[in-house]
Amino acid sequence: MRRRYFLTLAGSGIAAAGLAACGSDSGSGGGDGSAGGEVEVFTWWAQGSEKAGLDALVAQFKKDYPDYTFVNGSVAGGAGSAAKDMLQSRLQAGDPPDTFQAHAGEELSDYIAAAQIEDVSDLYEEYGLTDVFPEDLLALLTVEDKIYSVPSNIHRSNVVWTNIALLEAAGIDPTAVPADVDAFIADVQKAADSGVTGLSIGTTWTQVNLLEAILMADLGSEAYNGLWTGDTDWTTPEITTALEQFKTLISLTNGDRDGLDWTDATQMQIDGTAAYNVMGDWAVASFQQADWTGGEDFGFYPLSGGEAIFGFLADSFTLPVGAPNPDGAKAWLDTISSKEGQLGFSLAKGSIPARTDVETDEFPDYQQTAIESYGQDTICPSLAHGAATPVRWLNDISDATSQFTTGASDVAGYQEQLASIAEKNLSA
Ligand code: GAL
Repeated sequence: MRRRYFLTLAGSGIAAAGLAACGSDSGSGGGDGSAGGEVEVFTWWAQGSEKAGLDALVAQFKKDYPDYTFVNGSVAGGAGSAAKDMLQSRLQAGDPPDTFQAHAGEELSDYIAAAQIEDVSDLYEEYGLTDVFPEDLLALLTVEDKIYSVPSNIHRSNVVWTNIALLEAAGIDPTAVPADVDAFIADVQKAADSGVTGLSIGTTWTQVNLLEAILMADLGSEAYNGLWTGDTDWTTPEITTALEQFKTLISLTNGDRDGLDWTDATQMQIDGTAAYNVMGDWAVASFQQADWTGGEDFGFYPLSGGEAIFGFLADSFTLPVGAPNPDGAKAWLDTISSKEGQLGFSLAKGSIPARTDVETDEFPDYQQTAIESYGQDTICPSLAHGAATPVRWLNDISDATSQFTTGASDVAGYQEQLASIAEKNLSA
């Protein structure tokens, strides 16, 4: 059976590691002038606030390495919904980009097993990264003493976003946080009864994002983590309840969901046509771009069943086997892991730095809460964003979820399918 890597920590994240201010330069930066050429960086940050995040990294890269030319290999589609397939075709055809975006955690196991990415442990020594990332993040990245990617940030997946004006109009106290998923559903129902879309959502991966948030809240960290190791049985009544809740919430969403991406679902809130959205915290960057203020225009809280859980994912970059410009890729990895790179990127992206030594005073309210939670809460790996399972398992769940939400929504059949998908992938 495959080895599995989970973050099981509580309290050892950024806050625990200390948010020491440090004004000195970090990363080797500054290029030595002996190399150059084009560096193709493959991501799915093609538009809007995601593009703004990428632009921040590119600006830092140009400063650090003026001899290299950044080539934008982005493929639009949230969560890599289109990019990942295209990347796989390119890797299989022996045509890798110089570096590509991936997620820290189980997603990397696919690329490692297929010998598609290089061990970059040496760069951790060279760029002084071993001591600046939280130990548990390093553990998640380490496979048999090797590290295959460099994280650029940390995102949270299990956040409820609210349109405060619409909540008030529906008679919901926007400062009150629902105690559990049922209480959340009651609020969404109330909002829907007021004549707007209760919960905005998009295509399949955003639905899987909602599903994982419900599972984390209902099951708690231990049982949620056990879903991916075989320790938690998928056939229990607790899972049935979670799937029933998922079905109810889907019934309170926009009917055109399957044609929309996360940005469209967030835009519905900004346009004042949807009260709630459950999405990763890249959503906050879209609100900020729309000049929305946290606590005035939008609210946020984790979807919770009582336990404080941080749904975790980290964007990380790789060095593909056969990259045309490996030195250029290493330069990119230097920039994205530097203090300056991580600060500029997360400010624009809605995430928090993965490094523990970045001065975060200038981060807005939402990110301050994420920094605090990452330090205190129990960390659970995101399903929809590659931390919990290999790509093939996520693909199986996505297919089953799409059938469920577009078809007859038979909970018993969906649960059976999820159970047999787990069995199949655990024995792969
Ligand atoms: C995630 C990625 C985030 C954000 C999101 C929506 O998978 O880690 O950085 O881009 O998808 O596209």
